[in-house]
Amino acid sequence: MMTKKASSSSNARPSKSKNPKFLWTRKDLVGLDELSSEEIVHVLDTAVSFQEVSTRSIKKIPALRGKVVALLFFEDSTRTRMSFELAASRLSADTVFLSGKGSSTSKGETTLDTVRNVEAMGVDVFVIRHSQSGAPHQLVDKVNVPIVNAGDGPHEHPTQALLDIFTIRQKLGTLEGVRVAIVGDIAHSRVARSNIIGLRKLGAEVVVVGPPTLVPATITAMGCEISHSLDDILGEVDVINMLRIQFERFSSNLFPSLREYSSLFGMNADRLSKCRKDVLIMHPGPINRGVELTSEVADGPNSCILQQVTNGLAVRMAVLYLVSQSRH
Ligand code: CP
Repeated sequence: MMTKKASSSSNARPSKSKNPKFLWTRKDLVGLDELSSEEIVHVLDTAVSFQEVSTRSIKKIPALRGKVVALLFFEDSTRTRMSFELAASRLSADTVFLSGKGSSTSKGETTLDTVRNVEAMGVDVFVIRHSQSGAPHQLVDKVNVPIVNAGDGPHEHPTQALLDIFTIRQKLGTLEGVRVAIVGDIAHSRVARSNIIGLRKLGAEVVVVGPPTLVPATITAMGCEISHSLDDILGEVDVINMLRIQFERFSSNLFPSLREYSSLFGMNADRLSKCRKDVLIMHPGPINRGVELTSEVADGPNSCILQQVTNGLAVRMAVLYLVSQSRH
């Protein structure tokens, strides 16, 4: 038994993905916009092979032993930060962490100078969250090590979308033809943008739902439909991904009251009863109970919110592993 465990723990590489000929060559992961459908599937397949590591008594493999992952979070985070930190740890990498608060950015240092200084200390991968759209993209040509986007303003949150898509594929077996509703503050949501891009690339249908003030009409250019009525689409979707209202990105009030928003666009037991019996209820977190969904729904049998969080670890292990192995 011991021998078997030791041999399994020493397996530094994930098992082969479904396309063994696929070669990952991408240095950075800054958005799903840049990824082909084949690359997205490769990340998902690699994540499948990493899931098992988290079930071991010793939750570690030496895939990134000796490497250093720098987590630069210039914007608050609970899930993404801890998930990347644990993912790096499970791959045996060392981690260093810097937040916006308490760093020398408060003294006027630019993000580029911060990143270059940390790179000079010999780190191997950057994971960056930033409040400005495009911040990670602007760094990729200026540093020699991989950059992973952990969320840039309202632009993209690629690893959140990958873990959402992973969870849908895990539960439904496919993305092809699956109909997904993304509900709420579409206008300010990087999660919505990355999900729409990734889901469409893998053959899912997407309908975005919310009041006109939170759903830009131009979003249809991304290949999704728009509905301004949650009640109208309840019975026709396989997945409902509820989004948090991002008040921190509002410059003015975009709906009369939370009570009204919730009555029109909140998921509750009554609305759930009108959905398909096995509809998946998702939320990227953090959730505001009683606003975008009730506790009954958030903690009920259709909810896969915590499964998303669990899957995030395997997905982020896959991402850190793949960008670290790429030749650049
Ligand atoms: N889903 C998500 O990005 O959560 P955090 O802001 O807590 O990282």
